Amino acid sequence: MNIVALISGRGSNLHAILKGIKRGIINANISLVISNKASAKGLEIAKDYGIRTLFLDPKNFPSRVDYDRKLIEIISKENPDLIVLAGYLRILSPEFIEAFEGKIINIHPSLIPAFQGLNAQKQALEFGSRFTGCTVHFVTKDLDSGPIIIQAVVPVLPEDTEKTLSERILSFEHRIYPQAVKWLSEGRVLVKGRQVIIKDATYGTLPVNPQLEDF
Ligand code: GRF
Repeated sequence: MNIVALISGRGSNLHAILKGIKRGIINANISLVISNKASAKGLEIAKDYGIRTLFLDPKNFPSRVDYDRKLIEIISKENPDLIVLAGYLRILSPEFIEAFEGKIINIHPSLIPAFQGLNAQKQALEFGSRFTGCTVHFVTKDLDSGPIIIQAVVPVLPEDTEKTLSERILSFEHRIYPQAVKWLSEGRVLVKGRQVIIKDATYGTLPVNPQLEDF
């Protein structure tokens, strides 16, 4: 399975997926990592793994649609089976989503449909939720609402700050994102409308491969 990843920053989810690939747990190849930010630490992580990287500067494009058209052109050449959004902080145009319909996945730091959009962890704290979590989902034209592949439930503790809660959620993101990519690489993911069926998965628990646990 060939993957193109889009990032904007730290790249810790990208790193978790790269570790899974390097250890031979995920049978996939990331051919290109693209960032809309020159300073994205994830670009350095990708380079450390010998992966081609590209900083595509939005300032060089008159509009989001023009930027996304360039992205479509570049990504199409990679012939990807999967496009992984890993902390990509730009809304994708409908044209981009149509071009790669059903092949784009994202991770969001809440149990969607709760707390969509920015600062999901802060939203959960301010709402007073006792549990929140993270979600890997297919990307559709509606923001943070596509069919759900995997979710992890994470408790909110009374003394939590946005930072401590974000860190706790992130440790689960690093387990579920590689797991979702692994399932996709194994061809076990079937989408029927909003329902995503994972062939032979264990439900009712966090269905994560133990080898992916220490990320
Ligand atoms: C994560 O919290 C992810 O859920 C959200 O953006 C953040 C990206 O972090 N979409 P990283 O760049 O993967 O470290």
